[in-house]
Amino acid sequence: MFKISQRRYLGNKNSILPFIDNIIKNEIGHFNSFCDIFSGTGVVGNYFNKKDNKIIFNDLLYHNFVSINAFLNQDNFNQDKLLKIINDFNNLSTEKENYFSNNFGDKYFSKKNAIKIGFIREEIRNLFIEDKINLKEKFILLTSLNYSIDRIANTVGHYDAYIKKDLKDLNFKMKLISTNTEKNINNRIYNKDANLLIRDIECDILYLDPPYNSRQYSDAYHLLENLSLWQKPEVFGVAKKFDRSKIKSEYCKVNASILFDDLIQNAKCKYILLSYNNMGSNGNGRSNAKISDKQIMKSLSKRGKVKVFEQDYKEFNTGKEKRNDNKERIFFVKVTK
Ligand SMILES: C[S@@+](CC[C@H](N)C(=O)[O-])C[C@H]1O[C@@H](n2cnc3c(N)ncnc32)[C@H](O)[C@@H]1O
Repeated sequence: MFKISQRRYLGNKNSILPFIDNIIKNEIGHFNSFCDIFSGTGVVGNYFNKKDNKIIFNDLLYHNFVSINAFLNQDNFNQDKLLKIINDFNNLSTEKENYFSNNFGDKYFSKKNAIKIGFIREEIRNLFIEDKINLKEKFILLTSLNYSIDRIANTVGHYDAYIKKDLKDLNFKMKLISTNTEKNINNRIYNKDANLLIRDIECDILYLDPPYNSRQYSDAYHLLENLSLWQKPEVFGVAKKFDRSKIKSEYCKVNASILFDDLIQNAKCKYILLSYNNMGSNGNGRSNAKISDKQIMKSLSKRGKVKVFEQDYKEFNTGKEKRNDNKERIFFVKVTK
C-alpha cells in the first residue's frame, strides 16, 4: 500500500521533515494548529497530524486536494470494498481506445496501459455517479490511481515531457493507498489561492512552501490534474498539456514578492516558517528565485524578528551522495507585530 510520501513531486519536503520538526521543538514547543498553505503532496502537514491538533491543508492544484482528502480527511470509507474494486480493475481486459489512450498512449504510457488507465478513470466516475462509492472512496481510488501510474510513467518524475523510447509493456497494476482517518478529526482541506485563503483562517503555526522559481507545478503535473478533473479537455503540443491559464501560480512570476508580502501581512498566526531555497542567481534562468532574500527579510521583519536556519541539501547522484552549495533554509518569525 502506498504511503503519502511515495510519489515523486518537485520540491517535496519529505527529506527535511526532521529539520522542520527540530525548529518547531526548539523555538515553539506545544501548538494546537498548523497550516500548510502550499501543501503539494501534504507530507509536511501530515507529519504534524495528531488526533488532538488541527491541520489546515491547501493547494492550488486539484489533484493535490484530492490526494490530501484521501489521506487526511476524517470521512468514512470501506477498505474491503475498495480492495475488491481495485482487484477487479487489475483483472480487466479491454482494447477499446478512450480519451486517455488517444492522448497519452505510446507517449507517457504504453498504448495498452493507457487504455487501462483511461478505462479505470471512467469506471471511478461511474461508480461515484451511481452511488456505489462515496466521495472519500472516490478520492482514495483517484489517489491510488495517481500514485500507481507515477510508478510506470515514462518520465523523469514530472510530465513536462516524456522520454522518447520504445515502451515496454510493463503490466500496470493499481495499488491502494494506506489511509487511516483516526487522527484527522479536526483537519481542514482547501483548493484555493493561498492569498485568498489567508484572509479566512487563523492558526498557531503558518508553514509556507511556495514555488521558488518560474517552473509552474501546473505544467509539471498537468497529466495528473487532467486525469483527476476528468473534464477531457483538448490537449496541445508535444507534452499534451491542456489549457492551464486558471491554475498558473503568480509565485512563479515577476510579481511574486508583492504577493508574498500580501500573504505575510494578512496572516493571523503566532509563528511563521518559510521554506525558500538559495538557488538565487547560481542556477540557470528557470531556477532563479523569484523573491530575493532582501524582499523576504523586508516582508517578514514587518511581523517580528527573523531567524534563518540552514541545512545542507544533499543531492543524490548515481547512488552516491554529492554535496553542493544548495541549502534548505527555513526563515522563522515569532509574530509580535
Ligand atoms: C514547493 S511545492 C510544495 C511542496 C510540499 N511542501 C511538499 O512537501 O510536497 C509548492 C506548491 O504550491 C502550490 N501553489 C503554487 N501557487 C499557489 C497558490 N497561489 N496558492 C496555493 N498553492 C499554490 C503548487 O501547486 C505546489 O504544490
